[in-house]
Amino acid sequence: MKRKHSLFLVGMLSTAMTLTACGNESEGGETGSASESEGKVGVILPDTESSVRWESADRPALEAAFDEAGVDHDIQNAEGDAEKMTQIADTMIGDGVTVLAIVNLDSESGAAIQEKAESQGVATIDYDRLTLGGSAEYYVSFDNTVVGELQGQGLADCLGDKEANIVYLNGSPTDNNATLFAEGAHSVLDEMPYENVGEQAVPEWDNEEAATIFQQLYTAADGKVDGVLAANDGLGGAAIGVLEANGQAGKVPVTGQDATVEGLQNVLAGTQCMTVYKSATQEAEALADAAIALVKGEEAETTGTVEDSEGGRDVPAILLEPQSITKDNVGDVIEDGGQKAEDVCVDEFADLCADAGIS
Ligand code: BGC
Repeated sequence: MKRKHSLFLVGMLSTAMTLTACGNESEGGETGSASESEGKVGVILPDTESSVRWESADRPALEAAFDEAGVDHDIQNAEGDAEKMTQIADTMIGDGVTVLAIVNLDSESGAAIQEKAESQGVATIDYDRLTLGGSAEYYVSFDNTVVGELQGQGLADCLGDKEANIVYLNGSPTDNNATLFAEGAHSVLDEMPYENVGEQAVPEWDNEEAATIFQQLYTAADGKVDGVLAANDGLGGAAIGVLEANGQAGKVPVTGQDATVEGLQNVLAGTQCMTVYKSATQEAEALADAAIALVKGEEAETTGTVEDSEGGRDVPAILLEPQSITKDNVGDVIEDGGQKAEDVCVDEFADLCADAGIS
């Protein structure tokens, strides 16, 4: 019922507005025939700490995607504070955004933001993280179960088909993606002759806390850890730090995600076994497309639906394909524009880049 209500409002709004999706000339999105009153999209990123991706990859990719489409936009960051996200959302709604996209900090606060937006006739989109019990019109993300499967398979490839003790450092318990990553990784690793000797979720993906948690799990396992399933590059880096202090870095494979500069450097150096590349450009463009469709009152092209188990609904989704990155294909990320060689190949990494054919 709610959904219909909001779609109705979006439909009404779209009749009052014109939006042209092909302009790329000017900042305000003027495309010649379009009026000034085009839709405006608000995006709220979650934080700057759980991953460098949000500010270093997503923000520039989103800006580029909206500029390219000629869509007025406002991108802000909640700095890890759900109350701040709520305030930003209120301000954006007050400022007249037509579509609001959020990367929730937890489903409860995300759902409340979406409910309020909806009541004001503002359509919402879940960007990257699904808001359980929420009311987003679309979910734009990668296939996060596949992300976990790639991590599990990457670790299995590094460990081989022999007995091994594994520690899992999962993402934040408030992030639905973290659940999917862990499920995907387990679906692969539980089939291998490995033993799970420690598993913990890291609150808010906090890298410092991850180091403390990993140290505890490592000590509890008597240092008998052969592999680490870390849910992203930040958590992987935390585990690598502890392994380094124990003279084990490079001997114990560690996974990651986000293809960050540090993650790729660790992969080149051999302290990290793999990372997962999720093109920010692709994700940002998918968000821009979905937002434009909503502003125009049209339906966005979806790849299927995802189940919101809490809300009991199937959310129309655009799920993109993640890519596994090992030492052999770090260059793919750079070729795709996911990182710049000049950022990755600095200092001691220059030679490693040259060896890997990256310039
Ligand atoms: C994202 C990851 C990111 C993590 C921490 C997840 O929801 O999908 O790319 O590393 O949050 O920000």
